[in-house]
Amino acid sequence: MKPIRVGLLGLGTVGAGVAKVCRTHREELEEMVGAPIVLAAVVDQDITTPRDGLPLEGLPLGRDVSTVLDDPSIDIVVELIGGLEPARAYILRALANGKHVVTANKALLATHGEELYAEARRRRCMLAFEASVAGGIPLIRSVKEGLAANRITSLYGIVNGTSNYILSKMTDEGLEFGRVLAEAQAEGYAEADPTFDIEGIDSAHKLQILATLAFRTCVGLGDIYVEGITRVTPEDIALAHEMGFRIKLLAIAKSADGRLELRVHPTMIPESSPMSAVSGVFNAVFLNGDVVDDLMFYGRGAGQFPTASSVWADIVEIARRLAAGHAAVPQDLPVLGRNPLGLKPIEEVVSSYYLNVSALDRPGVLAQVAGILGKHNISIANVIQKVHQKAQAVPVVMMTHEAREGDMQKALREIDALPVIVAPTRMIRVEES
Ligand code: NDP
Ligand code: HSE
Repeated sequence: MKPIRVGLLGLGTVGAGVAKVCRTHREELEEMVGAPIVLAAVVDQDITTPRDGLPLEGLPLGRDVSTVLDDPSIDIVVELIGGLEPARAYILRALANGKHVVTANKALLATHGEELYAEARRRRCMLAFEASVAGGIPLIRSVKEGLAANRITSLYGIVNGTSNYILSKMTDEGLEFGRVLAEAQAEGYAEADPTFDIEGIDSAHKLQILATLAFRTCVGLGDIYVEGITRVTPEDIALAHEMGFRIKLLAIAKSADGRLELRVHPTMIPESSPMSAVSGVFNAVFLNGDVVDDLMFYGRGAGQFPTASSVWADIVEIARRLAAGHAAVPQDLPVLGRNPLGLKPIEEVVSSYYLNVSALDRPGVLAQVAGILGKHNISIANVIQKVHQKAQAVPVVMMTHEAREGDMQKALREIDALPVIVAPTRMIRVEES
């Protein structure tokens, strides 16, 4: 049987994991494929720094990308260099040369996916991206194939390991934000630019990929409302706990009445919900399909081996087809439905809210704040006022009933303009169910 030849671009955290798994699991992988698999070329700009647990001698390692992209004997190109360019140009070049491509690059797919999918279709090549969402969880394959009979009605989840790691350590161990971020970087979970993780951008990239597939609707990154975790304070975490909630960075997509809402933001969820128990680098995604009903996916969302596991799932799928002589089919790539959904602007989204109003401790302040909320159709469910003996300002903490986001934004602008308010009000959306 003719060997399947794989070329690897990028020998960093994930690339080194892919090469290690090739050494440790080659026999089983070849059994699954039904043909020998050869890691024929590995390219990185750094070919000398030792990779932990991976001897470099014996690896076909070099700096010249054409050994992967242009060598006619390479069947599958695995792109693990990350970033937009030159990754985009390299994938287009590989496809133009008739090679199948595997990538974990969510930033690239969320930004240039349409162009890359179209090119893969045109060239009749596979472009596989299981590792791009939720690390080691086989989520893309489940949505594409396992749930083929379903109309997905909602999905929401923790899809960024770094921010979940940070929030979990801040909550459980009272650790400070900067220290925990440094730990996540050292573990290899964080993106090259960690602002992608903590500002919610990486979660938005994943939501874009997942929602496009699940709702068969063309979703742009600009259609997703995004807010990160950098403004979540230890005080918010403690108050959330006092009220029976935990704060998680959630990516949410819900469809109703032919429209889709897409948002990423810190969210208070009941401590009793299964999502609250998702700690550290773990990811979890809840999904509802109209035929299957509720599903929950859980596993490691980042890290060398979990991500390599997903990369290998894609390599094996493509290699199997090559070994069996099947060409790629256009339906392997995200397909737009006949009735794509319209998008719901964030102003029309309805949820409950936690508000932390920093006000001077004077008579009538609470009445002023409550009056503004009432004027904008926002009903208060609960109030806690913390007395700080010496401080001039006190946190007035409120939970509201469900209200429109647009009304809440208007109310917040008016509240923060009151002379008795000493700092911008902190607002966190609440998902009770
Ligand atoms: P790393 O930064 O650890 O690895 C990237 C490697 O590619 C580095 O060795 C880098 O070299 C090299 N490289 C960068 N640009 C080039 C280039 N132009 N030519 C040759 N080599 C290049 O990243 P990760 O392994 O963590 O991530 C790879 C991809 O996987 C990214 O798209 C990421 O978003 C995605 N991903 C990562 C996960 C994780 O847990 N780490 C999980 C899921 C997806 P140098 O170090 O010198 O820049
Ligand atoms: N930086 C990402 C995370 C890697 O922390 O989840 C996995 O996509």
